[in-house]
Amino acid sequence: MLSRLLLLALAVGANMAQAASSKAAGKLLFGSYCDLCHGVAGRGDGRMVKLLQTQPANLTLSKLSDAELAKIISGGGQAVGRSPQMPAWGGQLNKQQLQSLILYINSLRQRP
Ligand code: HEC
Repeated sequence: MLSRLLLLALAVGANMAQAASSKAAGKLLFGSYCDLCHGVAGRGDGRMVKLLQTQPANLTLSKLSDAELAKIISGGGQAVGRSPQMPAWGGQLNKQQLQSLILYINSLRQRP
């Protein structure tokens, strides 16, 4: 009985982890997909910068709205008439992951 309850609790927990977006999840995703170009702190100073013709955006200064962030992250630079060196991530990220990244980017911004 107790072990069944435990399993149930685990299953519910796993579902919640999948369904909820969070800044912490965004930080992990950013570390896997974005920091090579944008840098660990999002300042546009990642290790790949030297290989790029277009400077990756300094995300701490980004003024894009959440909707605009979602568009450029999922569709890439080309989807919004900007550099194709910002890749499209729509195929890799589900909705929750995209939302987590947006939460994380918002947390990097320097607000006056
Ligand atoms: C291969 C390098 C590269 C990777 C990896 C990359 N980006 Fe970019 N990103 C760029 C470049 C270059 C630009 C600037 C495009 C331009 O100005 O035309 C950019 C621009 C952006 C912008 C626009 C910001 C603004 O205010 O204008 C956002 C947001 C962004 N990237 C988010 C991300 C996220 C989130 C990830 C990871 C899922 C990511 N990028 C991964 C290269 C990259």
